[in-house]
Amino acid sequence: MIKLENVTYRYKKNNNVLNNINLTIKDKETIAIVGKNGSGKSTLGKLIAGIIKPKEGNIFIDNLNITDKNNKENIRKKMGIVFQNPDNQIIFNNLEDELSFALKDLSKEEIKKRIETSLQKVHLDKNINKDLYELSLGQKQRVVIAEVLAKQPKYLIFDEPTTMIDSSGKEKIYKIIEELKTEGYTIVYITNVAEEILLADRIIVLEEGKVAEEIEKKDLFTKFETLEKYDIKIPFLFELIQLLKKEGISINLENYSINEFVAKIKELINK
Ligand SMILES: Nc1ncnc2c1ncn2[C@@H]1O[C@H](COP(=O)(O)OP(=O)(O)O)[C@@H](O)[C@H]1O
Ligand SMILES: [Mg+2]
Repeated sequence: MIKLENVTYRYKKNNNVLNNINLTIKDKETIAIVGKNGSGKSTLGKLIAGIIKPKEGNIFIDNLNITDKNNKENIRKKMGIVFQNPDNQIIFNNLEDELSFALKDLSKEEIKKRIETSLQKVHLDKNINKDLYELSLGQKQRVVIAEVLAKQPKYLIFDEPTTMIDSSGKEKIYKIIEELKTEGYTIVYITNVAEEILLADRIIVLEEGKVAEEIEKKDLFTKFETLEKYDIKIPFLFELIQLLKKEGISINLENYSINEFVAKIKELINK
């Protein structure tokens, strides 16, 4: 469990960019953090990842206080973070060098096993071109995700991971996130993209460094107008459901996934 208690953060002597944040993230939960540019999303992600420390308040990761130096190593192992630009996160040109970099202390066999498993989880063939600079940004981002997974963290933080990636690459990453959710990772997904919000169980809206709204996924459909206030467009799927409703076709979804939508349409047609 991740717990933030009255967390405040500022860069150097500047004004607070996060103010009195209280937030609990349960194990195996996926939360989306949304909000306009500059609202403090990335700062919050870095605090949760333990990259920066709160100026006031406390952050606990599985009851370990992030500020206590004795917990540093323990917490670091639990956390994996993926940023926007894979080119900033990849150090080597060769896939195996890249993936084994953080695993040096392990046995050769263990490294091999971890690399194989994590490549499977991101749907990259292990015979993929080993020259990383020749891969697409979407593939590189999947390499970054594999690298993070190979360290076997419990918590995954994604900070706008698909911004630089084309639409087919985006879809592949969404599928991976869905699968990681099912596998039981606890996920913090920072985004401003309507479609990506649907990956989460709960949505936290930041505005000027404060939690402005907390929305459970089940309430999302009725609360989307609230989100439009924060510059978040209604997802296409929601628009479609609304339009169908006007035509007298009612579709009730629990998870708001495209697959679920297709299944419901099929059901209707077969009636
Ligand atoms: N390294 C930094 N030094 C000083 N100010 C920063 C730094 N990083 C971010 N900020 C400021 O903190 C605020 C929140 O930024 P950020 O957390 O990146 O927001 P978001 O990810 O929602 O766009 C912004 O006003 C930004 O200018
Ligand atoms: Mg950001």
